[in-house]
Amino acid sequence: MDWLASRADFMAASLTAGRVKIYHVLVMKKSIVYSFSCFFLVLFCLTLAGAQSRPAPNPQLASKDVNARVEALLKQMRLDEKIGQLVQYAAGNATGPAASELSYDELAAKGQLGSLLNVVGAEKTNHYQHIAVENSRLHIPILFGLDVIHGHRTTFPVPLAVAASWDPAAAETVAHQGAIEARADGVAWVFSPMVDIARDPRWGRIVESNGEDAYLGSALARAWVKGYQQGDLSRPDSAAVSVKHYAAYGAAIAGRDYNAVDMSEIQLRQIYLEPYRAAVDAGAATVMSSFNSINGVPGSANPFTLTQILRKEWGFDGFVVSDWGAVKELLNHSVGADGATVARKALMAGVDMDMEGGLYGTVLAAQVAAGKIPESVLDEAVRRILRVKFALGLFDHPYTAEGPAYDATPERRALARSIAEETFVLLKNDPIEGTGTLLPLTAKAKKVALIGPMADNRRDVLGAWAVTGDPKYVVTLKTALAERLGDRLLYAPGCDLLSGADANVLERVNFNGPVAADKHQPVPDDARTIAEAVETAKQADLVVMALGESTNWMEGEAASRTRLGFTGAQQRLLEAVAATGKPIVLVVLAGRPLELKWAANHVPAILEAWSPGIEAGPAIADVLMGDTNPSGKLPASFPRAVGQEPLYYAQLPTGRPAHGDLTRLPRNGDEKFMSRYLDEENSALFPFGWGLSYTRFSYSQPTISRAEVPVSEILASHKPVVMVGVDVKNIGSVAGTEVVQLYLRNTAASVEQPVRELKGFARVALAPGESKHLEFPLGFDELNFYNAEIKRTVEPTTYTVWVGGSSLAAAETSLKVTE
Ligand code: NOJ
Repeated sequence: MDWLASRADFMAASLTAGRVKIYHVLVMKKSIVYSFSCFFLVLFCLTLAGAQSRPAPNPQLASKDVNARVEALLKQMRLDEKIGQLVQYAAGNATGPAASELSYDELAAKGQLGSLLNVVGAEKTNHYQHIAVENSRLHIPILFGLDVIHGHRTTFPVPLAVAASWDPAAAETVAHQGAIEARADGVAWVFSPMVDIARDPRWGRIVESNGEDAYLGSALARAWVKGYQQGDLSRPDSAAVSVKHYAAYGAAIAGRDYNAVDMSEIQLRQIYLEPYRAAVDAGAATVMSSFNSINGVPGSANPFTLTQILRKEWGFDGFVVSDWGAVKELLNHSVGADGATVARKALMAGVDMDMEGGLYGTVLAAQVAAGKIPESVLDEAVRRILRVKFALGLFDHPYTAEGPAYDATPERRALARSIAEETFVLLKNDPIEGTGTLLPLTAKAKKVALIGPMADNRRDVLGAWAVTGDPKYVVTLKTALAERLGDRLLYAPGCDLLSGADANVLERVNFNGPVAADKHQPVPDDARTIAEAVETAKQADLVVMALGESTNWMEGEAASRTRLGFTGAQQRLLEAVAATGKPIVLVVLAGRPLELKWAANHVPAILEAWSPGIEAGPAIADVLMGDTNPSGKLPASFPRAVGQEPLYYAQLPTGRPAHGDLTRLPRNGDEKFMSRYLDEENSALFPFGWGLSYTRFSYSQPTISRAEVPVSEILASHKPVVMVGVDVKNIGSVAGTEVVQLYLRNTAASVEQPVRELKGFARVALAPGESKHLEFPLGFDELNFYNAEIKRTVEPTTYTVWVGGSSLAAAETSLKVTE
């Protein structure tokens, strides 16, 4: 019964908290005679006062003005109108199974349509909005929501790519542009950012994430929220976010989408919840509850995550929307035998709005009428939703001006291009005997063969969830290189992204749009097209190969894979072209870390370009030709073999750490009985934080402002107590940007801590020969961890501190934390 009690308890506590100040004054007046009982009363009051004095994460949602308007409206609402605010239906393209087909005009007119998703465009949104505002009894506007994930009409690089820039300002820009364009289309609510920690590239949704790390993920989560919401929901260029998928969706067992999640509470809080917390602290207006269960309790009926943590501990004042059909899917989770039970569980746990489940709209009324759901619980959900609508200014400006059609203007293109260029990661650039490195291309190559199914591909470079992105705006790599190289460029597609009849599926299926008619295309003849590509390669001095993943079929939701190599005949193509002996630059265009071991062993230069968006071609060409020096760093580890997954750098220690040569079989017991694979090395092929440049950087020995700090000082102050200093120098001959990274290891904690963890980073632009001094602060925020009592703490210990250009950073110092 804890389930049902939780939300009601929380409301009681909130009401009590409102009276804390009065109690406190009374207590101060009591004499010492009552000291014993007063002591506990003071303690109680201070606890509540502490909860009350915490600043509201979003002051607009907590403002008197907004809440007074909410209360005034709530008083006038009938039961059906209250429930109406709690429902959301998809009236456009379906982004999940079994989309509803109701009369949305009718629901809007009755005041029973709180929100619609997937309706895009001023004309379409205005249609429903006019009905809701003008014909319904209380004139409550509809909130339109959409998956605006990496730009809206202007498609920017996918979030995983943006994370590879390690540049929160880039995320902020992408978000802000998305908000501007979404608002122009009548959409005031974006289902972004996705801040799930993703440590397993078998899970296709890693593409939407900020990667594997809680520190980087939290920094980016704050930036995405800031970019969308602009610190003021009422601005015409801001949109309310929906932080998703709460909680821990990224830890789906075995990387299979929608699968269960099972982990310790310490891991949940210390790693997985951190980015959501950062987003809520940054003022996130809404949160989306996840499909997965967490330790046996579904994310969309979980009082612990939705009420205890989100509302009570973090002070979240916005509302929670379920993911698509997640309330109805509680039946499949087997936590209730009928719709009424699971809908009640979801609402009582803290899910305020039912996305495309249809259950809230059909089963709540009877339960409220029968007293099974207290009306106060319903009111609280309505309150939360209305708060966001008021804060967004929807009551004052419900309609959207019907403006000129979208155009990918030069300004928008310039932004998309410069951000894409920051996201590329140079994985490898080995010198070739006698000629130096292949990249940048410069004038060395007389003839360049461009080969691969991504070279002239407009659709797949947009990336997953480019919902309103249009391939017609894409400039491909072929077009961009042809502009620079003219007839020095040769081209052959080589093969398709999939082989045989599968290749035709890609033509027919479009998850973000209508399904095209089956064109009955001939099955591609891989042997012939590969042979043609080989002939093309032979005519060139060097080859640029553009291989990757299909956006529609292999990236994003419902796109889990058990193999992480190139699909279709791409690997065969790569090997056939490599067999010509021509030097190859491999450009990988994919939304997840792929298994690149063969390529890393046979190809001298590899550039990870992700799914770059509309300026894919020009941005890649700029980097290949050396006009832009690559500066991206991996936000997720690239495996040597899929069997290493989930693979991430911040692993917990083992009693038998691996050492020695892991490339061969153990030759004796000492080599065997350690934590290793028999058939593969433990390490990543390309680790977290990895990324090369056309220049080189040197690091000084890091320094520490104090070698020792008492634990009491760290606990007492949430300010930095120590500074770590380092000098970084560009020792090459071209300008470049380095992402300087600071890692820590707590070597003696009461609960074991990861072997290293990122706790600071900075992007630094350096001219050739230039050196800069950087300082990284360390304090409670960087040094704390959760102890066995689930309290964030710092204990006496020694931290090893590394600073460098990747998670392999070797230059170290240490910090002792004393009693
Ligand atoms: C399901 C996805 O999990 C979520 O990310 C998305 O926002 C909703 N569908 C709406 O399309």
